[in-house]
Amino acid sequence: MDTNKYNDSIFADDDRVDGLAKVTGKAKFSAEFKPAGLTYGVFVCSTIAKGAIKQMDIQDAKKAPGVLDIIYYLNCPEVPGFKPADRTKNPNARDFTGLKVFHNNMVVSNGQPIALVVADTFERAVHAASLVKVDYIKENAETDFDKNKFNDKLLKPRPDYLRKEKDAWKNAEVSLEEEYTIPIETHNPMEMHGTIAVWEGEKLTVYDKSQGPKGVQGELARLFALDEKNVKVITEFVGGAFGSALRSWPHVHAAVIAAKKLNLPVKVTLNREQMFTMVGYRPQCWQKVGIGASKDGKLTGIAHHAISNTSSYEDFSEGISSVSQYLYDCPNVFTTYKLLPLDVNTPTWMRGPGPASGCFGLESALDELSYKLNIDPIELRIINNAELHPHSKLPWTTKFLKECYALGKEKIGWSKRPTVPGSLKEDGMLVGYGMAVGVFGAGRSAATAKGILKMDGSLLLQSAVSDMGPGTTTAMVKIGSEQMGLEEKKVRFELGDTDFPTGPTQGGSGSATAVGSAVIAVCDAMKQSLKEMAIENIAAFKALKADDIKYENGKLIAANNTASIHFMDLLKEAGKPELQVSKNSTGFAQRDKYATNSFSVHFVKLHVHPVTGVIKLKHIVSAADAGKIISEKTARSQMVGGAVGGIGMAMTEETLLDHRYGRYINSNFVDYHVPVHADVPPMDIVFTNQPDYIISPTGAKGIGEIALVGVAPAILNAVYNATGKRVRDLPVTPDKLI
Ligand code: MOS
Repeated sequence: MDTNKYNDSIFADDDRVDGLAKVTGKAKFSAEFKPAGLTYGVFVCSTIAKGAIKQMDIQDAKKAPGVLDIIYYLNCPEVPGFKPADRTKNPNARDFTGLKVFHNNMVVSNGQPIALVVADTFERAVHAASLVKVDYIKENAETDFDKNKFNDKLLKPRPDYLRKEKDAWKNAEVSLEEEYTIPIETHNPMEMHGTIAVWEGEKLTVYDKSQGPKGVQGELARLFALDEKNVKVITEFVGGAFGSALRSWPHVHAAVIAAKKLNLPVKVTLNREQMFTMVGYRPQCWQKVGIGASKDGKLTGIAHHAISNTSSYEDFSEGISSVSQYLYDCPNVFTTYKLLPLDVNTPTWMRGPGPASGCFGLESALDELSYKLNIDPIELRIINNAELHPHSKLPWTTKFLKECYALGKEKIGWSKRPTVPGSLKEDGMLVGYGMAVGVFGAGRSAATAKGILKMDGSLLLQSAVSDMGPGTTTAMVKIGSEQMGLEEKKVRFELGDTDFPTGPTQGGSGSATAVGSAVIAVCDAMKQSLKEMAIENIAAFKALKADDIKYENGKLIAANNTASIHFMDLLKEAGKPELQVSKNSTGFAQRDKYATNSFSVHFVKLHVHPVTGVIKLKHIVSAADAGKIISEKTARSQMVGGAVGGIGMAMTEETLLDHRYGRYINSNFVDYHVPVHADVPPMDIVFTNQPDYIISPTGAKGIGEIALVGVAPAILNAVYNATGKRVRDLPVTPDKLI
């Protein structure tokens, strides 16, 4: 099997530029910095889900060795940004909507941070935190999604969507209506969240695990009423985040508050249990999909309804049912989406937010329909392929979804798929094949980068972004190297520091196009400056215009080949040790002309034990239309990682609440099952590798989300193919199959 495709490709030397630092421990993650005088903050967390703190007894804890302070609602300094925004100066100023840590005695979720014990060592802080005694006034908490999902407290985060008829699917020749559910899935990146805050007068420096250092800088400036210039955020390395670090959470604010109050650097790190209660999760959701088609497979109507949970204090929404509006060509579409507030912590974006959940509903329903129609599920999707965006009627910038079907179908061996479920056995195991489509928005946001080209032939690039693992650093080095015709080892990309030029928060699969476009803009501007420098400083170029000079592999060459000079010599001749250029690349401005998406198709072959219901994945093939592949190895790793996330979603991950206490009961790695190596089968990743130069000059479209979106339904569809049992409640554990 072609599982190491990149090894023998032209990308043989395609290692991550920061790979060695990461695997040897040289890479410094946010919690690993140690400013002088560092102290350690450890949370005391609520043990009820709703109510108020009647009394907090901190006397014993205060006397414990090494304790410097205990911050809670009675002694917490005011945070200016927690107050309602002053709209007299800025009419658009928004109120802070997150948890106002330590600012009142209210308890809004179990595991909520209610005090921070700061001590001279971490262990002493942990011990002292255990000595804090809390008396509560308890109120009845509602944490049960299933019981409450149709109650009268539902919120409507967006209007219903209707294209022509609501009920067209009901009148179709062939139709079905089914419900699909997804439990809470908790963010479990390898690196847990951590923040170190250091104040020097009015200057604040924060080492923070973040997907967007500039975003954290802006938020902390607002919250603590500081000039942005006085807030520096450092995020050199991130050990995975998947969306959990798209915003800053209470521990970030707590660290900043404590460091200010104590006038000492304070570090707050979350343990695994706290990861379940403080940094968001994929919300629980219920979906109902009604879908109808003519006998020849043409879709006539879809009705897609979704409800997901949020917290009582914040509305988090992600357009779960929206995928049905545009993934297939269908004349009649009705989608609704509602939110159920519960007495839990706020959910957040998790890899593929929206479509990851929505495609489970839609792509399962489509598979069910294919059996009713007796049409191959790939064929059914091709029949309903949307040539134009079904709502806007705009063309896609690029769309190579059909190519993905063809590439993946071949690799998985689709011709061996049994058309009758449960009819094929291998070594005594039931065999199933399944597939499903993934989709996510693509685009290009604004970004700025700086380039420093040096006399020694090296190029340094900088942007204040973060790389949570997709390989942004590597990709930017590749783009810089290609643009300037330099060896990769001569190019460096620095990120994770708000002193660098502004870059976007890493999310929505947008870093390659946004930051890459800024890097290209920098390189273009550098080449132009070099040409002008040659005209000004080098006799042989004096009579030329910039347009008469080519830039090739570091050399400036007169178009008529009369003269050439390497930029290293040019910088020497011109007496300039380096050339510095900063450039901004704007956001995608053609939304009125084009639809923009990345697409993927995931194929699964699996075995199911006929007696125990244990599933063994045998092979996954993911085919992606993600535009141009900039770094094949990191792109492949993204796809593999996304599929592993999808395996978790399909088969193992489920955050459970004990509704009597409103408390998570499996908030640890023993009871919360993320896929391990043994769960992950051999994988083939195939890319259409068709550049999309309309979205951006990088040609890329984005990979991060489509790597996961569609994987879970592909697995569930394969389970049905193997067993004839349709499981509509994730995860598909063996008990659901026997
Ligand atoms: Mo991703 S959910 O955009 O970090």
